[in-house]
Amino acid sequence: MERRVKGCVSLRGEIAPPGDKSISHRAVILNSIAWGRARIENFAPGADLGATVSCLKNLGVGIIEEGGVLTIAGVGQEGFEEPPDVLNAGNSATTMRLLAGLLAAQPFLSIVTGDESLRSRPMSRLIHPLRLMGAEIWGRGDSLAPLVIRGNRLKGIDYRLPIASAQIKSAILIAGLFAQGTTTVEEPAPSRDHTERLLSAMGAKLERDGPRIALTPYTSLSPVDVQVPGDISSAAFWLIAGAIHPNAHIKIMNTGINPTRSGIIDVLLQMGARLRVERERVVGGEPVADLEVESSDLVGTEIGGSLIPRLIDEIPLIALAGAFARGTTIIRDAQELRVKESDRIGATVKELSTLGADIEGLPDGMVIRGGSKLQGGDCSSHMDHRLAMTLGIAALVAEEETVIHDAQVVEMSYPNFWQDLERLTHRI
Ligand code: S3P
Repeated sequence: MERRVKGCVSLRGEIAPPGDKSISHRAVILNSIAWGRARIENFAPGADLGATVSCLKNLGVGIIEEGGVLTIAGVGQEGFEEPPDVLNAGNSATTMRLLAGLLAAQPFLSIVTGDESLRSRPMSRLIHPLRLMGAEIWGRGDSLAPLVIRGNRLKGIDYRLPIASAQIKSAILIAGLFAQGTTTVEEPAPSRDHTERLLSAMGAKLERDGPRIALTPYTSLSPVDVQVPGDISSAAFWLIAGAIHPNAHIKIMNTGINPTRSGIIDVLLQMGARLRVERERVVGGEPVADLEVESSDLVGTEIGGSLIPRLIDEIPLIALAGAFARGTTIIRDAQELRVKESDRIGATVKELSTLGADIEGLPDGMVIRGGSKLQGGDCSSHMDHRLAMTLGIAALVAEEETVIHDAQVVEMSYPNFWQDLERLTHRI
């Protein structure tokens, strides 16, 4: 499906971003491992979560979804059943990697596949630590999905992650729930900590000492109801739209601002954005706030190091903001972007240059020279949901119409994105 978007006179209104995708994955997976019922409110919509729910149902978990509320009948650590067919994680690496941690400890065989993009993403980073724990796990060419997993008795390991990855950290911790002995994971830089927060709330014995997280699996998990905050990675589209559009005022309600995810707020403030964080509160163990953004005069900035994992999914948007900033914006240490749903460095550089931005790729980032006007044009999502939405926002500030091919891919994380965009834009 292609989507045609024209620039708009103003951008105004209030938006409630969809429920957080990362927290929703963890809430449904960990409550499936617990024994008993849990209710999850504001569960993330979209195909990625649909894949996780469908895989868990195929493993024997009872899950009912009604109007954004999920009820899970957790089966307990020993209640999972051998899946009758191949499990399909679709486009979602979080589904595949977190479930691999669970499947590695089950007394049966499972095969997990995914779409073309997921089948090309690196899995050796997952296979290696799980094998150290005693898992029998194989991939195509030994490091690509589909994955074949023959569950085993696992043992705890002391593992230093070579890259900051919340998915791999979570897979190891989930496997660690079933292992003998303590599992310790050390991160090179802090990645999102939703797994740790939820595990602690569910009664797991989890201790953090600087970059090291230790899990001692001596208790079973208790189910916990979760009220999922709005996803900051979805809110980010409106934050950038509001900051770069010359006539904008947007309020974004109920957004998660967990410090391991809120790098986008720090960078926008550093770039001089008129952005306010209001009504800060804690909901279900996660910090939440309302955000307000207005048209801003941005200045270029330089980002890298430990900030990168805190905004990893927002980097295409930061590149777009850089195109509207005074001076140059430099993004470094983001080589992980090369192995996301698309090569997000290559795809962002190609598509934003097509629209008229002055942007250049680096092996681990991008250089964006601000100040050139976007003309609009014909561009592609590369079947990457976050790129499709970034291009949709770019189109709002372009001079001519923009056509985005494969725009339907937004359904992975934000099925109502195009409707929300229409609702906030005023053209007369
Ligand atoms: C996620 C972790 C990040 C992020 C992804 C979601 C998660 O991936 O890019 O969109 O929910 O754990 P990595 O763990 O590969 O960094």
